[in-house]
Amino acid sequence: MKKVYIETLGCSKNVVDSEQMLGILDEEYLLVEDAIDAEIIIVNTCSFIHDAKEESVDMILELAKYKQEGQLRYLIVTGCLSQRYPQELIDEIPEIDAVIGTGNFFKVNEVLNALESGTKEKMFIESVDLMIPETLPRIITTPQHYAYLKIAEGCDNRCTYCIIPKLRGKYRSRLLEDILDEARDLVAMGVKEFIVIAQDTSRYGMDLYGKPSLDVLLRALNAIEGIVWIRVHYLYPDVVEDHLLEAFFECEKVIPYFDIPIQHASNAVLKRMNRHTSNEDIAQLVKKIRSFNKESVIRTTVIVGFPGETETDFETLLAFIEDIKFDRLGAFSYSDEEGTPAFKLPNKVEQELILERQSILMEKQMHISEALFASKIGRIYDVVIEEVAEVGKIYVGRTPYDAPDIDGVVYVHVDTELELGQFCKVKITDSLEYDMIGELYNEIKHS
Ligand code: F3S
Repeated sequence: MKKVYIETLGCSKNVVDSEQMLGILDEEYLLVEDAIDAEIIIVNTCSFIHDAKEESVDMILELAKYKQEGQLRYLIVTGCLSQRYPQELIDEIPEIDAVIGTGNFFKVNEVLNALESGTKEKMFIESVDLMIPETLPRIITTPQHYAYLKIAEGCDNRCTYCIIPKLRGKYRSRLLEDILDEARDLVAMGVKEFIVIAQDTSRYGMDLYGKPSLDVLLRALNAIEGIVWIRVHYLYPDVVEDHLLEAFFECEKVIPYFDIPIQHASNAVLKRMNRHTSNEDIAQLVKKIRSFNKESVIRTTVIVGFPGETETDFETLLAFIEDIKFDRLGAFSYSDEEGTPAFKLPNKVEQELILERQSILMEKQMHISEALFASKIGRIYDVVIEEVAEVGKIYVGRTPYDAPDIDGVVYVHVDTELELGQFCKVKITDSLEYDMIGELYNEIKHS
């Protein structure tokens, strides 16, 4: 069997694509954990912002060296960078044997067969709007107790700063039944937490069922035995309606964790971003969520330095953050991406000023976060254990209010041995800026 290695960059949507490529290749290829052993290397890339592109190119170059130093025969680039710059990649990096687009990554096997048969073709890009087949096998690369559940592909929102609709195509929901079948299969494999993802989960079902149907999906997932936590990412503020909030609060497995990227709080900037929402709408939504359930955790992201962002716009954003006190917040600096409408906007903000504003904002959020976490001392949380810091003494876990790889952790002090993926109750004894410290209260059994 030929040995294949896959490197995944970018977001959780890419993780799922990689897992499906691994599933497709699993029967005929041996998946290896070290690139040096591989005869085939696949780099699944990101192209969202400047830093992501740079990271992807660096990784391709880093792995290309195995053509000389290892056993590498075929270097294949997939994902958003290959969708965006296929010809440039082929021209600039001669070690690349094939580029595959985001719309046809599931044809990786066919591409490998073509390479084996001696094709000189390197470009394998098809329409970004292709429907992904529903029956793709998948090998989970996340820890066994959680998995991403991709419910749709593509995006119809036309935020002016975002290149993703061009790279991922129009919004295509998966059939509800197919998603549920996949969830049941994954539960049978030991998955207990689902992280529901799409470019925009709140619009799930619009194309198939004529109305936003995430609430229906969440209720159906909630009924599946064996699932412990259901987390949802990427809700657009303008589509979060009461029927969705009711599903969040009525389904006991759905975590009241609202990941709602707002991107800005100045109405002038929101308009230029083509966001269909306003400062007042967002404030109203947050108020509503918290009035439904004061334990709700609200995560958001903002972009600093969008073209034309004035000092007053930035002050508005700062005041909003101070006022709302988001539980979790990520601040990105604006990246000027060719091919987006924002690229053509005048009044670009100097990079130095963008970075200065980003750091002012993150400093403010750090104080907010510190105070929020300090207020949790003495409380007891369910925690899933994900890392061993010191066997029998300190473990690293996560509450339901923390998403893996994005949010903070809980350092759990114990005098017993815990297993990875184990759920337990932890009493919080201290807090840091973004993390918490606690001691084991008791263990929980989830069959
Ligand atoms: Fe990057 Fe593509 Fe995801 S651009 S963020 S890998 S959708």
